[in-house]
Amino acid sequence: MTPPGAPLFARISGTGSYLPQRVVHNRELEATVDTSDEWIVSRTGIRSRHIAGEGESASDLALHAARRALDAAGLVPADIELIVVATTTPDMMFPSTACILQRKLGANGCAAFDVQAVCSGFVYALSTAELYVRAGKCRHALVVGTEVFSRLLDWADRGTCVLFGDGAGAVVLSASETPGILATRLQADGDQVDSLCVPAHVSGGRVFGHPFVQMDGGAVFKFAVRALGEAGEAVLQEAGLSPGDVDWLIPHQANVRIIEAAARRLGLPIERVIVTVDHHGNTSAASVPLALDEAVRDGRVRPGQHVLLEGVGGGFTWGAVLLRW
Ligand code: UT7
Repeated sequence: MTPPGAPLFARISGTGSYLPQRVVHNRELEATVDTSDEWIVSRTGIRSRHIAGEGESASDLALHAARRALDAAGLVPADIELIVVATTTPDMMFPSTACILQRKLGANGCAAFDVQAVCSGFVYALSTAELYVRAGKCRHALVVGTEVFSRLLDWADRGTCVLFGDGAGAVVLSASETPGILATRLQADGDQVDSLCVPAHVSGGRVFGHPFVQMDGGAVFKFAVRALGEAGEAVLQEAGLSPGDVDWLIPHQANVRIIEAAARRLGLPIERVIVTVDHHGNTSAASVPLALDEAVRDGRVRPGQHVLLEGVGGGFTWGAVLLRW
């Protein structure tokens, strides 16, 4: 029990993730679009991705990941006092995927809402939940990144369909007397809306616009490297730490060349970077919590280490969370 007046911190007390069963290797895509395993691997580092089944929704993936995170934290759904879900591919226009997840989990009663910041979504959601926990508004928050991004892809467009995958990652964020999250940073630049978007909307029962991912790959690439670097440097400065103090960098998993460039900018060797893009593809808001869970479960992330989470995505949005494990 935290003594009255003591500073409250927010710590991740459990992680979990889930990947749909179906694995699609680059070779399979060669059969449907004019691409090659060699091109995809050399330009992106991606070798395979998971694709959700027809009946599987973002909340289904989130449910598996959330249950695993709760188990890891030694908690049950009734302990959760806030649910924040980051997703670009919600089950419905409304209600939020957070509310749908809440019903599936059996955690009714607590606040639940979605965050939409595309591939930065998890970093946005975690930073938001941290404020609730640190303010003493809740003891345990469930923060999830979940995507069925495959549904937004034009599978005939080789420029985008080879890049993405589906999955979900979750953490439980708990009040603590010792830090946890040391610093957060969120930013956005709405001038860049057109560089990466799904330019469509629903009105009067019809879809208007182009309901598939549209992207200026080169512009996103350049921006992502700079944004990841700046966000990382900002949280390190706020916490009074330097890149040399970072044990693990966990950046958004979009392209291994972006990840390598972001690590170089911070002066970190690739051995200190968690890379999952090779077997997950770009899972948008799920990519950071998926990579975190993998590194926690295989023992790379250990107590006392400094972990730097970084996100960048459509909007543009970008940000970072620095934490002590
Ligand atoms: O979460 C953020 C989401 N978005 C991203 O992360 C995307 C960031 N951008 C990137 O990852 C890279 O810019 C790409 C992987 C999209 C492209 O890599 P690149 O090294 O920038 O490729 P490029 O622009 O130099 O090459 C493009 C060429 C084009 O052919 P031409 O016009 O040069 O003849 C494309 O038509 O590669 C062609 N191309 C492909 N070829 C084979 C594009 N997609 C493919 C493909 N297979 N799948």
